[in-house]
Amino acid sequence: MTKKVYTPLHGSMTVSGDKSISHRAAMLGSIALGTTEIDGFLPGADCLSTIGCFRAMGIEINRDGTHVTVTGRGLHGLRKPDQILDCGNSGTTTRLISGILSAQAFDTVLTGDASIRKRPMGRIIRPLTEMGADIRSEHGDGCAPLKIHGQPLRGIRYDSPVASAQVKSAILLAGLYADSDTTVTEPYLSRDHTERMLNEFGASCAVRACKDGERPEITVSPASELHAARISVPGDLSSAAFFIAGALLVPGSDLLIKNVGINPTRSGILDILMAMGANLEILPENTNSAEPTASIRIRSSALHGTEIGGSLIPRSIDELPVIAAVAAAAEGTTVIRDAGELKVKESNRIRVMTEGLRKMGADVTETGEGMIIRGGKPLTGASIDSHKDHRIAMTFSILSLIADGPVTISDPDCVNISAPSFYEDLKKVTAV
Ligand code: S3P
Repeated sequence: MTKKVYTPLHGSMTVSGDKSISHRAAMLGSIALGTTEIDGFLPGADCLSTIGCFRAMGIEINRDGTHVTVTGRGLHGLRKPDQILDCGNSGTTTRLISGILSAQAFDTVLTGDASIRKRPMGRIIRPLTEMGADIRSEHGDGCAPLKIHGQPLRGIRYDSPVASAQVKSAILLAGLYADSDTTVTEPYLSRDHTERMLNEFGASCAVRACKDGERPEITVSPASELHAARISVPGDLSSAAFFIAGALLVPGSDLLIKNVGINPTRSGILDILMAMGANLEILPENTNSAEPTASIRIRSSALHGTEIGGSLIPRSIDELPVIAAVAAAAEGTTVIRDAGELKVKESNRIRVMTEGLRKMGADVTETGEGMIIRGGKPLTGASIDSHKDHRIAMTFSILSLIADGPVTISDPDCVNISAPSFYEDLKKVTAV
């Protein structure tokens, strides 16, 4: 048997802009008054879908690489689009824009690709309807296409059954147009980029500090207008996650990733990997931004299993596929629980990860709301179905670096959804 030759990850790099923050900057810029300048915008397909929707509603948005200028027309400045709005593969576009469209003085229809048309929209239809919105699933299956007939909205208090920033944000954005305050509570605090950015655009949005075990409570007040802002989008920790995993797993790696967003509602992956024994150095950077950033130095590490559940799940939801992959290569057992939300992402990520990891020789059991991964088995080459899910394609690309044989991945270009430069970046940091 020939010995595997590893290509360590080394040097320093940046990753492309944060997807969640890029969406929100384009959206809030469109409904603010004045010119919003965005630096570090993610030119991924999902964020381009958001830009496309607002352009279709008469907003001038100019993009030069990662610099975007949005000429906002105010809360009531959107125009009725001539066409159905196409949200592509983007759940964030579909759900957040629905909150805004529910309050407009015109009708819209929203749709997207085959994956988006299977994802649950009842979770936003219910609270928005409570606010007085007229929003329906065209086929009555709780999925897109969604027909929205704009209405005056009322403020509500909504106890969300899921810790979902998309649900919370749809309600908060609708709340800007409501007749009184709107409050959302959730089981655990999901990413809070909307809350932070609403305040940057001059709205009033507050998160009530809560003690352990209490539901976080977020309140937005109706706004008369938002004002334009300058937004600097940090690197996406969810994209950095693949390089962090690669550098931990490939022996001899020493990688520095600069300007990565480390918002505490997103940084669960760092806590999880450190609990697994990862050698990570988090070097906070000094910026004036509403979103904290850091450089992260990663050195290859001997990892062991861990338990992941509760509030860690929303804090690491998009990273759980690559965390499962790391767990397969670590010694000992990792249990992921409370992660039922993974089933309703771009693919059923519990099923797709279990299948893919098993194909590579890992010992993985799918549970109702998670996975049990008994790590440490040698990983072999395999042919992996990405299900056109960007994070699955990137996860298995990283595992190919330590697999004992070639890994082929279907529809590898789906990485363009969130990380168009992924393969190029990987090539650079593994170049000898
Ligand atoms: C996102 C929220 C998360 C995440 C998605 C982006 C956002 O979804 O998985 O990639 O930008 O608000 P949920 O809110 O549905 O958990």
